[in-house]
This record gives sequence, structure tokens and C-alpha cells, in this order.
Amino acid sequence: MPRLGVNIDHVATLRQARRGKFPDPVYAALLCERAGAGSIVAHLREDRRHIQDSDIKMLRKKIKAKLNLEMSIAPEILKIACAIKPCQATLVPEKRKELTTEGGLDVTLNFRKVAAAVNKLKRAGIRASLFIDPDKDQIDSADRAGARIIELHTGRYAEAKNIKQRNKFFNQIEAAVNYALSKGLTVNAGHGLDYANVRRIAGIKGIKELNIGYSIICKALYTGLFKAVSEMRKLSK
Ligand code: PXP
Repeated sequence: MPRLGVNIDHVATLRQARRGKFPDPVYAALLCERAGAGSIVAHLREDRRHIQDSDIKMLRKKIKAKLNLEMSIAPEILKIACAIKPCQATLVPEKRKELTTEGGLDVTLNFRKVAAAVNKLKRAGIRASLFIDPDKDQIDSADRAGARIIELHTGRYAEAKNIKQRNKFFNQIEAAVNYALSKGLTVNAGHGLDYANVRRIAGIKGIKELNIGYSIICKALYTGLFKAVSEMRKLSK
């Protein structure tokens, strides 16, 4: 049964709409924990559009679940991560104009920079995960870069326009999971997963953790966060 990692960025998105104190992502994280989240995911973006440095510090102090800091490989952000020391850092590509993380990190193209970032995190005692597309070459590069954890991008599966496409992207993810497992990597997955499409991905044997944000926070507006997380947890078992 994969662990559920809840991404709380959009609690902070709402708070930043008024630059106030509410809703508080740390309070939300504690609620998620109580509802069964095994980890809390937060993305400290270079433009600080939602999560702020102080949120990461407070999360590190207050939550008992694993803190998974999503981040780019920018030197400023790496420095913050090494100082705060979350349990895990997931390296993602980051563009200023994107609405959300668009594709996986191109580890092959940016090999030296990514490997250096992985090494820096590991030396600070932080587990490093790489968010990559379900692609053999990227898995090989992640392995060579020294990451022992990868997170496979499920966005193309989630956004598929028809069943044929969805099956194709599902098969790619399943093959990538098996390939990464055969190399001894820990495999997580996430992006675009919701209450309708999560079951199939959760059914792939060997996935350790599913990281889900947007659909949970949206549902929470109607049902409350505790119920939204509990329901997702049941579906992703
Ligand atoms: N995993 C990673 C690496 C991400 O960048 C995101 C989005 O911040 C997620 C999971 C969660 O995606 P979503 O918000 O679409 O569930």
C-alpha cells in the first residue's frame, strides 16, 4: 500500500491571496497527518508564490510525518534546504511562468548540476529524490546521479484525452516502475492524480508513495480537509 504524501502548497496559495495568516499551511499539515497522510509535501518556489521560508521552518518543527521539500536546484534554495534539513528533498524543474510543475527534471541534459545538488543534499543528511518522466534514460541518469529515490511524473496519464492515450501512458509508468525497481531505486509517483484516476496508479506494485495536492485541496473546500485526505487515502490503498 503506497504512503500518501499530501502537497499543501495550495493552502498557502489561498493565504497569499491576502498575504495574511489564514489559512495556515502548518495547521493544514497537522490535519492531514491526523487524517492519515504519511508525508507532507511543500514546494518552496524561487518566486515564493505560495509556500514561504517560514512555513518550511515551522513544518520541520511541528509535523511528525516525513517532510518532503520540493525544490529546484537553484543555489539559494539548496542552501535553505541544507540549513532546515527536511527528511527528503524532491528536485523538480521550475519555470517562472508555469502554473504548476510541467515536465520531469531532465537529469540527462543537466547531469552535472543535478548530481552536484544530490551530493550536496546527501552530505547534509537529506534524502534526495528526483522528479522525472517515466523514461528509461532518465531513470538511468537519476541512478548515476546518486539519487536512491525517484518520483515518476503521472501528469500525462492524468491528462490523457482518451482511453487509448491513458492506457499508453499507464503502461509507460508501469514499465518505468519495474525498471527502476530492478535497479534498486525507491519509486514514488505523483502529479495530476485525483479521486477518479488514482486507483489504477496505486495498483502498480512497488510504488512507495503517491504525492497528491491539487485535487485534495479542491475537495477539501466542499468536505473539509480531514475527509478529503481520508477518502484519498482509502482510494490509494
Ligand atoms: N509531485 C510533484 C513533484 C509536484 O511538483 C506536484 C505539484 O506540486 C505534485 C506531486 C502534486 O501534483 P498535484 O497538485 O497535481 O496533485
